[in-house]
Amino acid sequence: MGVHILSTGSSVPNFSVENQQFEDIIETSDHWISTRTGIKKRHLATSSISLTKLAAEAATKALNQANINPEDLDLIILATSTPDDLFGSASQLQAEIGATKSTAFDITAACSGFIIALVTASQFIKSGSYNTILVVGADTMSRWIDWSDRTTCILFGDGAGAVVVGKSSVNSILGFKLCTDGRLNSHLQLMNSPLTSQKFGSTAVPKGKYDYIKMNGKEVYKFAVFQVPAVIKTCLNDLNLSIDEVDWFILHQANTRILEAIANRLSIPFSKMITNLENYGNTSAASIPLALDEAIKDNKIQPGQIVVLSGFGAGLTWGAIVLRWH
Ligand code: COA
Repeated sequence: MGVHILSTGSSVPNFSVENQQFEDIIETSDHWISTRTGIKKRHLATSSISLTKLAAEAATKALNQANINPEDLDLIILATSTPDDLFGSASQLQAEIGATKSTAFDITAACSGFIIALVTASQFIKSGSYNTILVVGADTMSRWIDWSDRTTCILFGDGAGAVVVGKSSVNSILGFKLCTDGRLNSHLQLMNSPLTSQKFGSTAVPKGKYDYIKMNGKEVYKFAVFQVPAVIKTCLNDLNLSIDEVDWFILHQANTRILEAIANRLSIPFSKMITNLENYGNTSAASIPLALDEAIKDNKIQPGQIVVLSGFGAGLTWGAIVLRWH
């Protein structure tokens, strides 16, 4: 049973913030941000834009492109760590796009979320359980940023990216590998840190309240530069493919210096790395499908080409998928 990526779509909020605008609120500069990260601007969801709305926009574009009616979807997988509803926003997305016959659930895995969601979708198709699945990666990290913390606030942006995958005689997903190391969890967290407590009789029962993103940038940087090339190499080895046979690499868009270091470790030209973080910053689960959608629209990726997707982030989690584009 082949798993075919039928279409892509993406969406970002209209409101964008240039690096210079941070100079008014924290001690930083456009020069520092662009040279250390490669980011020039990011899009932020204002109060009228919900995560669900962003995800629905990306999803609708992907469905229209594939000419698929929302009612024909069997399953929706929403990768997000910033749902509008802590119980999950996939159901809200299902209602928003009118996919009345599909089941829907969320996957929480921050910047690896889209990779895990796409692998999950492919397993449902391979097993014959479902025929047509919408996979969305969407995050509104801006809702969880401490705007006075200059080590994190300059990095993130909001957005959504979607793909529709279907059962097919051609197979797009050749292989994958997913990894987790929970011992490194404290390097990147958005913890539930109850400030208020409620009482059940005389027993204190804390009231849930999530804090801000906390990150050890240096440790995350080292982790990404070491683990991502390793997982890509393992994945390619398992498929008997050489690194030179890969046409494009679409990695999680966290930092240009991370992408450059990974390209060096893989001994590949940087021109094979698809990057768009200059315009969007780190959009977490949205970053890979957003970059994929742009690369398709720009006619970079051609039928028959080999594309490696790789995500990494909180958990810590990381993984790679090898595609043959059809
Ligand atoms: N503007 C100006 N100066 C800043 C700054 C900012 N926004 N943020 C940090 N600095 C300062 C630091 O305070 C430090 O000052 P000091 O030398 O006086 O102590 C100096 O810049 C260097 O800080 P450092 O942390 O060593 O910078 P860095 O080169 O490691 O870059 C990151 C910081 C966050 C850009 C980098 O570590 C990184 O990208 N890590 C990965 C983060 C990531 O991608 N996370 C998400 C993964 S999904």
